[in-house]
Amino acid sequence: MPVDFERLGPVGVITLNRPEALNALSLEMLEKIDSVLDLVERDAAIRSLIITGAGEKAFSAGADIGAMREATALEARAYAQRGHQVFNRVEAFPRPIIAAVNGYALGGGCEFALACDIRLASERASFGQPEVNLGIMPGWGGTQRLARATSPGFAKELIFTGRMCPAAEAHVHGLANHVYPPDALMGEAIALAELIATKPPWAVSASKEVINLALEGDLRGHLARELDLFALAFTTKDQREGMAAFLEKRQATFEGR
Ligand code: CAA
Repeated sequence: MPVDFERLGPVGVITLNRPEALNALSLEMLEKIDSVLDLVERDAAIRSLIITGAGEKAFSAGADIGAMREATALEARAYAQRGHQVFNRVEAFPRPIIAAVNGYALGGGCEFALACDIRLASERASFGQPEVNLGIMPGWGGTQRLARATSPGFAKELIFTGRMCPAAEAHVHGLANHVYPPDALMGEAIALAELIATKPPWAVSASKEVINLALEGDLRGHLARELDLFALAFTTKDQREGMAAFLEKRQATFEGR
């Protein structure tokens, strides 16, 4: 299964389980995450959720580049839209969701972590939005949520350069709430999820709803703009070159076309 779900008493743990591709998020995985959320929504005994990645290297290295390589603008838009729907649902989900970032959280992986309420990171974790290296831009909410979680300047630096940001730096910028040794990460995430699970669920859920409102602005409108521009990137030669170069394991040459 590319996505696993496990119950630990009042805590549900969702594990992205495609370690051979660094847990890159396929459409199938997005569908599975959505159906796990359906299940959790029906079970009031699950009070909090943790999302993590299988294996030692990655939380998730992002959207599936192989699946996007030959995409038309409309296909890319549909893929991005499915990501938006699932991550918007994660963000608005009436129970708290903790991202336990055990390794790379890049592109769509970083965007997934950003849609969660709280991010805990392993010392091995690194965050980033490397889409520019592929000739595209973030398409699953990163343009909005990274700036909101950190600062516009830091978000622009990461998005314009595509560089990776180690866990300690992510912590300084508010991207990770806490950083733990790799072996301690899951224990700390479970302890936090269990602590929250002892609190009155209505108060936690209502607080989540209004804290999200504090950050809202016109988030939905801005996400729609991101979706359109993301799709537009798939009409450029630079997108074809960037994704081909990644998959062929060579340096990309961008021509601005
Ligand atoms: N999609 C598909 N496959 C991926 C992937 C991705 N995002 N990231 C890694 N993989 C695959 C690699 O192709 C490789 O597969 P093979 O073994 O079949 O060759 C396998 O996972 C292991 O990866 P690497 O050999 O590259 O591992 P590494 O340790 O040398 O490098 C890495 C690790 C730096 C994270 C590198 O894998 C990398 O740069 N990955 C891509 C990260 C990225 O660009 N993410 C953004 C995706 S686009 C996106 O997310 C758009 C959006 O906003 C919606």
